[in-house]
Amino acid sequence: MLLSNFMITRVKEMVIFLVLLYIASSSAVVVGKQSNPFPGEELQVEAKLRLLNKPFVKSIQSEDGDIIDCVDLYKQPALDHPLLKNHSIRISPSFDPTNGDSSTPLILNYSLPFSQVWRRSGSCPDGTIPIRRVLKHHLLNASSLERYGKKNTNVITKRDFRMLEHTFAVGIENYHTAAALITAGYSYIGAKADINVWNPRVEADDEYSTAQIWLRNGPFNNSDSIEFGWIVNPSVYGDRQTRLFIYWTNDSGKSTGCFDLLCPGFVQVNKDILLGGTIYPTSAFHGQQYHISLEVVRDFDQNVWWLISSTDNIMIGYWPCDIFSYLYNIAVIVEWGGDVYSPRMHQEPHTATAMGSSNFASDHWSFACFIHQPRIKDYSMTYKYPYPSFPFTPDVNCYSGENYAETLFTEPLFYFGGPGRNLYCP
Ligand SMILES: *[C@@H]1O[C@H](CO)[C@@H](O)[C@H](O)[C@H]1NC(C)=O
Ligand SMILES: *[C@@H]1O[C@H](CO)[C@@H](O)[C@H](O)[C@H]1NC(C)=O
Ligand SMILES: *[C@@H]1O[C@H](CO)[C@@H](O)[C@H](O)[C@H]1NC(C)=O
Ligand SMILES: *[C@@H]1O[C@H](CO)[C@@H](O)[C@H](O)[C@H]1NC(C)=O
Ligand SMILES: *[C@@H]1O[C@H](CO)[C@@H](O)[C@H](O)[C@H]1NC(C)=O
Repeated sequence: MLLSNFMITRVKEMVIFLVLLYIASSSAVVVGKQSNPFPGEELQVEAKLRLLNKPFVKSIQSEDGDIIDCVDLYKQPALDHPLLKNHSIRISPSFDPTNGDSSTPLILNYSLPFSQVWRRSGSCPDGTIPIRRVLKHHLLNASSLERYGKKNTNVITKRDFRMLEHTFAVGIENYHTAAALITAGYSYIGAKADINVWNPRVEADDEYSTAQIWLRNGPFNNSDSIEFGWIVNPSVYGDRQTRLFIYWTNDSGKSTGCFDLLCPGFVQVNKDILLGGTIYPTSAFHGQQYHISLEVVRDFDQNVWWLISSTDNIMIGYWPCDIFSYLYNIAVIVEWGGDVYSPRMHQEPHTATAMGSSNFASDHWSFACFIHQPRIKDYSMTYKYPYPSFPFTPDVNCYSGENYAETLFTEPLFYFGGPGRNLYCP
């Protein structure tokens, strides 16, 4: 009796031991996999880091975890671009960008100046620009070393978009969906808006969610695009904070272009704004609303597209037109709204990555994310409400969009967003 009890105890111990062994070995496999996702490519990771991170004059440790390097203006990544070898840096536009702007700043206290967390820990000296340092763990978490900082895009799908009597082809990158206000069919040489700032849920590390402005030109599967706004993107930034971002491509994201300064292209001139930097605070449901105000405008004398923070009229930097083919002159489509990317887009179950505030557009003020005073600039050199323009919401059960005015004679806000997966978006 005693003996068999003893035996049973031993068997139990044995089972527990085996289970523990199994857990240990399986977690060893996981650990091994994570620490070496590109077998034998440790050297390549080091080389990529040396390529991405420029020598700096000063470096700042931000309380949000970022390290910011202040890099000599004349040694910035853009100047590695083969077409910018002899580029002479423009310090300010050849015209006053406030000319022809009749939009009114947000007057209610739902606006705060553009604020970024890193500025609490220091600032960059004159003659330098702040660049977010890429760390080893950022690269190890990327889907591939080669595509770090780029969009994971190879296929572009065409969605036809009907506006009045015309049909426009809008290219949507594969695995993306959008809810946006679109205008098309004229020549646009600038665009701006105030973008309400939120921190939506991003379900998986390889997904992202944005609120942004797009300027596009070119055939849907090989187009040029300039994009800017805020983003939650764990695979690039290693966390789920809301960050300022810019993006460009000259081939629909197939091989060129990237976020922020992660590949040569965009020339930054401002020392106070960090591309990829955390924006704070974000808006609260039924509470204070915050926004960022951004603008892109073509400078024909300098042959560049300037990016401007319009609240404080700060020139952040520019895209030289030389890096584009179709956007070399003008944009023909401008969009304002949200974009969600997931490698599992349009599959069941749908991603639960949210857009905007994560509420649907119909929830309106202080519950849904909005675009305030979308404006385009045309050859008249004045800013105008984009007319005609319409909501483009290809997956309306997951993410919606609505142009809505509180009262009859006020200009509508464009509300957009949604939770992703829900009863009607399974
Ligand atoms: C840069 O300048 C050099 C010398 O003037 C010239 O040979 C070269 O073609 C230029 N490169 C570009 C990309 O313009
Ligand atoms: C303005 O701020 C005050 C105090 O913070 C707040 O009570 C009020 O609701 C705010 N108004 C708007 C429109 O957000
Ligand atoms: C774009 O699409 C057209 C028609 O679908 C096709 O003929 C063309 O080869 C595509 N171009 C690129 C660069 O993929
Ligand atoms: C990145 O990888 C680390 C482990 O290497 C993991 O803890 C983390 O959750 C991953 N994701 C992000 C977004 O950093
Ligand atoms: C597109 O971008 C790539 C990479 O920056 C560049 O090599 C190429 O020349 C650009 N194409 C055009 C037409 O500007």
